[in-house]
Amino acid sequence: MKEQNGYHIAVVGATGAVGKQMIQTLINENFPIRKLTLLSSARSAGKKVDVDGQEYIITEAKPESFEGVDIALFSAGGNVSKELGPEAVKRGAIVVDNTSAFRMDPNTPLVVPEVNEAELHQHNGIIANPNCSTIQMVVALEPIRQRFGLKKVIVSTYQAVSGAGAAAVEELMEQTQSILNGQAYDPKILPVKSDKNHYQIAFNAIPQIDMFQDNGYTFEEMKMINETKKIMDSPELQISATCVRLPVAVGHSESVYFEIESGDISANDIKALLKDAPGIVLQDDPENQLYPMPANCVGKNEVFVGRIRKDLDEDLGFHMWVVSDNLLKGAAWNSVQIAESLVKLGLVK
Ligand SMILES: NC(=O)c1ccc[n+]([C@@H]2O[C@H](COP(=O)([O-])OP(=O)(O)OC[C@H]3O[C@@H](n4cnc5c(N)ncnc54)[C@H](OP(=O)(O)O)[C@@H]3O)[C@@H](O)[C@H]2O)c1
Repeated sequence: MKEQNGYHIAVVGATGAVGKQMIQTLINENFPIRKLTLLSSARSAGKKVDVDGQEYIITEAKPESFEGVDIALFSAGGNVSKELGPEAVKRGAIVVDNTSAFRMDPNTPLVVPEVNEAELHQHNGIIANPNCSTIQMVVALEPIRQRFGLKKVIVSTYQAVSGAGAAAVEELMEQTQSILNGQAYDPKILPVKSDKNHYQIAFNAIPQIDMFQDNGYTFEEMKMINETKKIMDSPELQISATCVRLPVAVGHSESVYFEIESGDISANDIKALLKDAPGIVLQDDPENQLYPMPANCVGKNEVFVGRIRKDLDEDLGFHMWVVSDNLLKGAAWNSVQIAESLVKLGLVK
C-alpha cells in the first residue's frame, strides 16, 4: 500500500545548504513521496519554496510536526537532532540524521550504503549519516580493505566552505569580492563560527575545521578517525587525519595514503579494483592529465578517485586522490540513499 502511495517525508533544515540539496535529490531520484513536510527554525517559517513546480510553505520544526511522518531527514544542527530526533521516533518516523549528534552512539548505525548497508537492520529509529569527508574516503577505501586488508590510513583533506553551511559560502563570495575591490572585510564565520578568532578564507588555506580537542586534533579530524573505524568495524585500524579548509565553494578533496595488510600488489591492481567498485568513478590517466577535481564533481553523486600510485619506500603503501560533492554524497545523496535502502529492505513500516 505504502509503495503505491509513497511515503510521508519530512526534511528538517529545509532552508539550509544540505536541506535544499536533500529536497532536490529526493526529486532527482524520483523517491516515492506521498507527502513532503519542510521544516526549519521560526526564522524561516512561512517562507514559500518551489519544489518541482509545486509551492510549499516552510513551517517551524516542533515535536507535533512529525505526526504521520514515515522518514525524517535531519540537517539542522546537532542540538535540533538531539531534541527533535527522539520526538520524531516516538511518533513512528525513522530518522536519518546528518549531524554528529548520534554518530558514535553504539546503538545507532552509522551508514554508507556502499560499505555497510546491512547495519540498517539494527536500527532503533535513528540512523546516522557520517561526516562528509569520512563518507567519500570510506567509499574509496572499502573495496581495498575487503580485497587486500587495510592496516594504516593517513589522510589530508582540502575541504570546501559549503561544509560549514550556507553562511560560509556567502562569506567566501563577499570576502573575495571585497579583497578584489580593495575594500575592508570582517571574517565572522570561518574557521568555526563559535570559536574566538575568525580568519580570511579567500586566497587562503585554514588548517582548522571544527574545534580543537585536548589531543591537538580538531573535532573534524577525530570524526574522520572514529567514524571510519566504526563504519568499517575496524577498531584496530591505524588512522590519522589533517583537515584543511580551502576557498572552494563545493567539493571536498582528499590526499589519502593507505597501507594494505599483505600482497604483491601494483597501482594497476588498485585501479582495476576501484574501476568496478560501487559508487566510484575512476579518473586516473596522468598522460592525458585526467584526475578528479572539485569543479568537475559538483552536482554528481559519485566519489571520484585518481592519482593512484605506489609509495616509493613502503611496499604495501599507496597514495590516491579522492574528490566528491560534499553536499551530495557527503550529505544529501547519502541520506536519500539510506532512505532508498530502508525502503528496499522493507524496514519502513
Ligand atoms: N554542509 C555540509 O557539507 C554538511 C555535510 C554533512 C552534514 N552537515 C550537517 O548538517 C547540518 C546542517 O548543515 P548546513 O550546511 O545545511 O547548515 P546551514 O546552511 O546553516 O542550514 C541550517 C538549517 O538548519 C535550520 N535550523 C537552524 N536552527 C534550527 C532550529 N532550532 N530548528 C529547526 N531548524 C533549524 C535552518 O533554518 P533557518 O532557515 O530557519 O535558519 C537551516 O534550514 C549541520 O549539523 C552540519 O554539520 C553538513
